[in-house]
Amino acid sequence: MSALSKWVESVVLRAVGPEKFGRLEYRLKPSRRASWGGPMNGQAGRLRICRDIMSALSPTAIVETGTFRGTTTEFFAQFTVPVYSVEAEPRFHYFAACRFGESSRVHLTLGDSRSFLSRLAADPTVPKHNVFFYLDAHWNADLPLAQEITTIFANWQQAVIMVDDFAVPGDSYAYDDYGPGAALNAEYLDRLNRTDMHRFYPSLRAAEESGAKRGCIVLCNDTHVRERLAGLSSLRLGDTQS
Ligand SMILES: C[S@@+](CC[C@H](N)C(=O)[O-])C[C@H]1O[C@@H](n2cnc3c(N)ncnc32)[C@H](O)[C@@H]1O
Repeated sequence: MSALSKWVESVVLRAVGPEKFGRLEYRLKPSRRASWGGPMNGQAGRLRICRDIMSALSPTAIVETGTFRGTTTEFFAQFTVPVYSVEAEPRFHYFAACRFGESSRVHLTLGDSRSFLSRLAADPTVPKHNVFFYLDAHWNADLPLAQEITTIFANWQQAVIMVDDFAVPGDSYAYDDYGPGAALNAEYLDRLNRTDMHRFYPSLRAAEESGAKRGCIVLCNDTHVRERLAGLSSLRLGDTQS
């Protein structure tokens, strides 16, 4: 996008406000519905990991943090279980709200991922067993990840967590690094001081992956789930601590 188009958009955003802007953007800029090159950053290998997990574990619900424009949310909606997703930026939340309209399966929330997960944990209508979490609400140094993981393992049984933008040891996948103590890597997880957390990484080398080649990690804290994930050829078991 040119500097002039960006300036025009920022003027319109200020003039009409984020809700109207998000709705206008959805209608007038359909190409933005495929943000990041498609679901899961346009990565075929990552989509395969997800599909493998879905067929091995048949989760009862899917929870995403960081809806953005709903591209990956739409991929999740095909699995015919409830999908809960949260977005902090009103402009993106309302874009995604247009995308899913009156869908009874996709539940979108505008807010912070940490309070959102606490609210889901307290909501008796939200499944608390065998839920798949996709954590992608990292955008700046205010990293919600540690609190997200802690809340999930404290409130859900047999949870599986996939974290996007995570460093894959010994491989060249891209990952988020917001400075000292705020890089999405194994050391970040070590600081949670959990002895019950099992870590899996993609088996596929970054060189063979498509799309943006962002790394990921898959976590669980249940031995039955660990055995199921260990049986997937798209994942390899990592060390419990780095
Ligand atoms: C990388 S994008 C998510 C992409 C999306 N999951 C997809 O696959 O298309 C990250 C999003 O997280 C949102 N975000 C950042 N911090 C957040 C927080 N604490 N709670 C909720 N959303 C947050 C950002 O506004 C941004 O839209």
